[in-house]
Amino acid sequence: MTSTPSLVADTTTLLNRGPVIPVVVLDDAARAVPLARALLAGGIDTMEITLRTATALDSIRAVADQVPEMAVGAGTVTSVAQLDRAVDAGATFVVTPGATPTLVEAGLDSGIPFLPGAVTASEVVALLEHGVETMKFFPAASSGGPAALRALGGPFPQVRFCPTGGIGPGDASDYLALANVDCVGGSWIAPADLVAAEDWDRISALCRATRELRIVG
Ligand code: 3PG
Repeated sequence: MTSTPSLVADTTTLLNRGPVIPVVVLDDAARAVPLARALLAGGIDTMEITLRTATALDSIRAVADQVPEMAVGAGTVTSVAQLDRAVDAGATFVVTPGATPTLVEAGLDSGIPFLPGAVTASEVVALLEHGVETMKFFPAASSGGPAALRALGGPFPQVRFCPTGGIGPGDASDYLALANVDCVGGSWIAPADLVAAEDWDRISALCRATRELRIVG
């Protein structure tokens, strides 16, 4: 195992590394390291590589090995087998879009920060039963957006959220302004077309634009 847990001690640290966690889909592992360096050049030192492509694990491994200052996590983890493979590849943290008791127990046992998804009050309660108070809120926009998160803050004032799904530069600040949101996740920082074009300068520029979000949040 090549994971570097010291880079991100826990999910609270993870959510406070910056206002945005780029959610990345990589079709070519050779682009993983240049992308990580482009994000760093733009001031973002956290990235979530989703396990939606055959190259995702190799991409995580490459970044973990070659860009040690980047906290590279695995996203779209939906099974214990995927979780194990992500840890083996060197993921610094793991994100799941939803949660089952089996997956949550494995995630909490994995030895790296684990950010499971919840969107309803019942799903939040289920995670609280496992002692999880830091959650992904997915899919954010179609699940009520900032209004839903504000409402969840009533009964669950202790829960911190990272909303993801359908968020862009136009509304990220609306989420970051909420008392129970520390960061948002989104693919707009490293969009597929710019990654395919290997337009690293434009991706770095998109990263730098998130600094304005921090002022509002
Ligand atoms: C995720 O996996 O978190 C989301 O698919 C990212 O959503 P977005 O592409 O709408 O930003």
